[in-house]
Amino acid sequence: MPGLKTVKMTDKNRVYIFDTTMRDGEQSPGASMSLEEKIQIARVFDELGIDIIEAGFPIASPGDFEAVTEVSKILKNSIPAGLARHSKKDIDRCYEALKHAPRFRIHTFISTSPLHMKHKLNKSPEEVYESIKEHVAYARNLTDDVEWSCEDGTRTDMDYMCKTVELAISCGAKTINIPDTVGYTVPSEFTKIIETLINKVPNIDKAILSTHCHNDLGLAVANSLAGVQAGARQIECTINGIGERAGNAALEEVVMAMKTRSDLMPYSTGINTTLLSKASKIVSNATGFPVQFNKAIVGKNAFAHESGIHQDGMLKNRNTYEIMTPESVGVKQTSLVMGKHSGRHAFKDKLTSLGYADLTDDIIENAFGKFKVLADKKKHIYDEDIFALVDDSLIKEDNVINLKSLKVFAGTGEPQRAEMTLEIHGEIKKASETGDGPVDAIFKSIKKLYPHEVNLQLYQVHAVTEGTDAQATVSVRIEEEGKTTVGQAADTDTLVASANAYINALNKMIIKRKRNFAPDGVETKQKDKNQKMRGI
Ligand code: KIV
Ligand code: ZN
Repeated sequence: MPGLKTVKMTDKNRVYIFDTTMRDGEQSPGASMSLEEKIQIARVFDELGIDIIEAGFPIASPGDFEAVTEVSKILKNSIPAGLARHSKKDIDRCYEALKHAPRFRIHTFISTSPLHMKHKLNKSPEEVYESIKEHVAYARNLTDDVEWSCEDGTRTDMDYMCKTVELAISCGAKTINIPDTVGYTVPSEFTKIIETLINKVPNIDKAILSTHCHNDLGLAVANSLAGVQAGARQIECTINGIGERAGNAALEEVVMAMKTRSDLMPYSTGINTTLLSKASKIVSNATGFPVQFNKAIVGKNAFAHESGIHQDGMLKNRNTYEIMTPESVGVKQTSLVMGKHSGRHAFKDKLTSLGYADLTDDIIENAFGKFKVLADKKKHIYDEDIFALVDDSLIKEDNVINLKSLKVFAGTGEPQRAEMTLEIHGEIKKASETGDGPVDAIFKSIKKLYPHEVNLQLYQVHAVTEGTDAQATVSVRIEEEGKTTVGQAADTDTLVASANAYINALNKMIIKRKRNFAPDGVETKQKDKNQKMRGI
């Protein structure tokens, strides 16, 4: 495996990248991803060179179980991992989901801080100690790749942490993760924690130390790097820094910081940094969480130079204001690509050059059809337009609802009105509704034709490229009984994109419902339990 296998464990400056976008990242309120999206993300992460992909928390729900199962079947390079509490049931479920992969990791954890042990677990330090003995050894019987985390590590008594870490290693844990669960530590303190473990735990050389830093004080990346400089050799992180509350350390930031400042941090990772921008987009699309414009590395403005002085400097020598190139993280200059006379073959070549290597013929055909329609409407077609078309084609599933036609009457004076035709379960239905604005009229028409009760949590429009004929990508997030789905669609007509995005979210919700009411009904029974567990 190019991940852990081809890298000699003796390479003392190799830092392993453990991605938890699909586990901790998905714990961000509203960031749920469908199975199809997780599979698509996993393929990109595999290509990106992530060493370990934590694909979920298998006991949390059948959805998480299925995601970890499917991801563990498709990874070619990365090692899949799943999370488990200290419970044999959790660990067994994790094993069941992961067992399809030639090599996999069980990540088990328990809180070790006085606060968590007393108030969350209602256990004494001795009981927690015994639990480590029992559960790490139990997981070790199922795989030789066990990671153990001391939750709320940075608020744990240091002597107690040393004892528990020594125990976990002696029970077979090969990776010891020190979470800053509440984002409380600062770099100098975290350095001390890692150094103390290295100096005081007698068997520490038998394990890799890992960081897992949350961003409540905006220090997650700084703390992770301090951890590595002190001797940790794994960083747990997420794309775009998504995660519980203020999120986790951003993968793209820790990786590019080590690469750009290799003079001070001479560490290597297996990440192909030119795919960072693509990974960021795919996660943002799946979650519906926009990337802030000034976000380091992957924000829209990360490589934009506005002021005259900066532009002048850039023209003379790029190094004046650029510490890394946009190309190094996969940001290409917006390039004019093709027009309405471009054929299927050129379109396919273009997709390959944009990094879409394994698209099925169906998806290419679907995207090509949309490209032709777009080329008739829009004068200039850019790479970003093609990305939007393909992403739109990738998220199409077996739809119950399809938009057949839409007419919207908007403007001043009269109430806005939408006339809509939908195909639902193969049957054509028509409706007309007025609303408080055209989008409201559209959503009401959909509701009239396909009655449902969901909460609309997010409606967001972004222009894919510049200009008034730009394609708009619309994201819609809806919620039903605590479950959220994100729908997306792109079109030069913002209202058509809005209707399709809402319909896309509904179609995904319908698929989720079908999964929920699977014969064993497990998810329904577990819902309350899951929500409780998600609050760890
Ligand atoms: O933040 C945390 O402590 C976690 C653990 C489960 C590793 O996510
Ligand atoms: Zn966490």
